[in-house]
Amino acid sequence: MKVLFVDGTIIGNKTGAVLDTVETYVKESGSAIEVERMNFADYEHQFVDGRPSAQYNADMQRLIKKFEEADGYIIATPIFQGSIPGVLKNAFDMLHPHAMRYKPVSIVANGGTYQHHLVVENQLKPILDYFRCLVTPNYVYTHAGHFDQDNRIIDEDVHNRLRELVRVFEKYTEMSKGLANDMLDEK
Ligand SMILES: Cc1cc2nc3c(=O)[nH]c(=O)nc-3n(C[C@H](O)[C@H](O)[C@H](O)COP(=O)(O)O)c2cc1C
Repeated sequence: MKVLFVDGTIIGNKTGAVLDTVETYVKESGSAIEVERMNFADYEHQFVDGRPSAQYNADMQRLIKKFEEADGYIIATPIFQGSIPGVLKNAFDMLHPHAMRYKPVSIVANGGTYQHHLVVENQLKPILDYFRCLVTPNYVYTHAGHFDQDNRIIDEDVHNRLRELVRVFEKYTEMSKGLANDMLDEK
């Protein structure tokens, strides 16, 4: 079970720090999940403009392939202008509508303030619903006050919610077995 940990921004460090913490809890749980990290900051992004996918640069083709090959996803997003970053939406636009179908997804999000926690509910979840992902009901939203100066999470409640997220995500990986593979034949 290969799970792609997507840091969906090219700016900032906190979403990456949250992903690191999720990875720690996955390892502690002793599950069979194999973590693969995708940091958008390491990719040279191109806008989706309708060309065949083979004509995008090597990074975009690598991005598409990793999404297609993964069995599940932890998606980390910052909140930008009351929404998700354009680079994350652009990455979703790169994908075939079946690429994430019936695969489990958990979301972690970080904003500068507490006010935008429902962005996940109103904007990111509908995109993942379009892809027919198995989105776990629990997601974790952090804001600047949950971190120390070195971007370590200092809020115990956030840690507990991340542990819970891992626990539920692992159950969703079980549920997706068979379902997601069946879809590959229809691609
Ligand atoms: C262009 C831009 C727009 C932003 N818009 C919002 C916003 O609407 N709401 C919010 O809570 N935080 C907003 N932020 C703060 C980011 O969510 C925050 O910087 C991000 O989660 C990463 O934190 P870090 O840069 O300290 O690592 C914005 C940041 C940037 C760069």
